[in-house]
Amino acid sequence: MSNDTTAVVSPHALPSLPYPENALAPVISADTLGFHYGKHHRGYVDNLNKLAAGTEFADLPLLEIINATAGKVDKIAIFNNAAQIWNHTFYWNSLRAAGGGQPPARLKEKIEASFGTLDACKKELASAAMAQFGSGWAWLVLDGGTLKVVKTANAEVPMTAGQKPIVTIDVWEHAYYLDYQNRRLDYVNAVLDKLINWNFAAENLD
Ligand code: FE2
Repeated sequence: MSNDTTAVVSPHALPSLPYPENALAPVISADTLGFHYGKHHRGYVDNLNKLAAGTEFADLPLLEIINATAGKVDKIAIFNNAAQIWNHTFYWNSLRAAGGGQPPARLKEKIEASFGTLDACKKELASAAMAQFGSGWAWLVLDGGTLKVVKTANAEVPMTAGQKPIVTIDVWEHAYYLDYQNRRLDYVNAVLDKLINWNFAAENLD
């Protein structure tokens, strides 16, 4: 580093979970959260550090790596691991114990302006989660000032399409298979009703 005020960004570190591993039970068990965070999320961090070492990406912050590698076939492994680190950190923050319920007023108004009702928004999120064939993510995003529901495959992120993530649900099987087996819809509905963190979502409006 030539500039000693620049934060050291490599190797990347696994961000702390915002709650204990058993905090989301019984909707998401401590077992699921333990494997998901401790094996999958950590695995992406370890892989990125190995892949980026000695390359032009070694000293870049995560979002810069994501932006620099998105859509580049020869950089797909670095993109996938960097994006999955970002996606998982965003997902942990999209959930909280005793979540669900009513969003803060400003978010609720915006949801109602886009979807009519909160229920319609939740239904659209569940539909996107179900329509995602294979692994991926369902998102509430801000797109040109309007809230929308989108889905992305594998590690893809909404930012590369110019959309601002508001809240996300991981629909990779590793997110729910220990608790729900093949019943993805049961997992998604339980998350939307009991865990989704509308406070975090409201903070992301700005
Ligand atoms: Fe995941």
